[in-house]
Amino acid sequence: MDKFIIEGPTPLKGTISISGSKNAALPLMAAALLGDSPTTLQLVPKLQDIYTFNNVIRVTGTRVDFHETENKLVIDPANLGFTEAPYDLVRKMRASFYMLGALVGRAGEARISLPGGCAWGPRPVDLHLKGFEEMGISIELDKGYVMASIQGDEVEGGEFTLNPSSVGATVNLVLGAVKRAKKFVIKNAAKEPDVVLLCNMLTKMGANIEGIGTSELTIRKVDSLKGVEFSNDPDRIETGTFMIAAAMQPGSDLTLTGCKPSDLGEFPKSFKKLGVILDINDTEIRIQSSSAIKPVSISTEVYPGFPTDLQAQWATLMTQADGESRITEKIYFDRFSYVPELNRLGADLRVEKNRVIVKGKTELEGAAVMSTDLRASVSLVLAGMVAKGTTEVLRVYHLDRGYENLEHKLNAVGASIKRVAEN
Ligand code: UD1
Repeated sequence: MDKFIIEGPTPLKGTISISGSKNAALPLMAAALLGDSPTTLQLVPKLQDIYTFNNVIRVTGTRVDFHETENKLVIDPANLGFTEAPYDLVRKMRASFYMLGALVGRAGEARISLPGGCAWGPRPVDLHLKGFEEMGISIELDKGYVMASIQGDEVEGGEFTLNPSSVGATVNLVLGAVKRAKKFVIKNAAKEPDVVLLCNMLTKMGANIEGIGTSELTIRKVDSLKGVEFSNDPDRIETGTFMIAAAMQPGSDLTLTGCKPSDLGEFPKSFKKLGVILDINDTEIRIQSSSAIKPVSISTEVYPGFPTDLQAQWATLMTQADGESRITEKIYFDRFSYVPELNRLGADLRVEKNRVIVKGKTELEGAAVMSTDLRASVSLVLAGMVAKGTTEVLRVYHLDRGYENLEHKLNAVGASIKRVAEN
């Protein structure tokens, strides 16, 4: 296992190129299984979660070639003959559960391990399962596995309301419906850019989906889908994370290239309130920090609201703001595992139910910290870059799941982050 040794503080100056989105790539990879011919995906990031999902897909007999230097992934499902996703792979990554929709769509049956909980509490899949049943797909649970099957080639479909709105359930139900449901309507569907991108790719493959980008999706089955060439989108969470990194460090002037600012929803609105200089054009974002940042309270919401995947980073930023702020989590109520670790560095954060109160202007000092999930880990890196002295962030394998070349990208603009093996 590796750890990071970070020396701070270091202003960030220069240019960082944004990688392809992890969360958007995974549904596209699952969709490729529905094609009658190979699919080529561009802008696929080299991340542990992508390697894990490649292996999940390979279990089915599908051929997966990752041309890593080009970030190009070729998926050929011609020999898909086994419709199972085993526990030892699903437990490594919850998104493997997308295999349920993909395999039912492809083969009419699937046996998928139920994912477990995760570091920020229970993360149920009840909506996925109820949605499939509503569609007319038979679901049985047996020894930790979900068995899904349909009789004949198609199901009637129907209508299902997601409450709450769920990215994962929307993705899974769309994957399951496009080749199987006569007509299926998803109400309160997720509108996140990842879902829109998936629907656009499926449409290019030949699917019939109405209402893309709205909260009501209507899917009518088509008999076949073809493989396509399709580009993934840049990672909006990586983009937001680097914007926050620059705003936190006085003296920073950072340009992010290869971005898709329109995917950031209302995040820039909160960001502008900090008092830093922000220039956004079609594919580039420039952040010039100021010597003092204002406290800005936020509340996470479904897209286009403030993303839960930037909540921990924002709380970290607020430790440097000129006053108190409140961070309210409305998607995952107890996603606060980073709080005690930030406090170890000298921050002053207090959790009250689903809210963190952050006292601003705290001087952070280096210490050893550890975290249990991806976004919490990156927050500790951000904090370490501001803290005086040496910070050790343990268990950086969490970061390797979701940030491509994190330390190389940050070191190239002035950070001092060393990766060493943990003893
Ligand atoms: C995805 C993202 C994750 C992000 C989250 C919210 C991926 C791989 N992961 O996760 O990074 O933090 O969206 O933007 O894309 N829920 C249920 N029952 C269900 C499913 C969800 O109650 O069957 C609830 C969840 O507990 C949560 C809310 O719905 O409170 C939203 O979760 P969801 O959008 O499904 O998150 P994921 O797709 O798992």
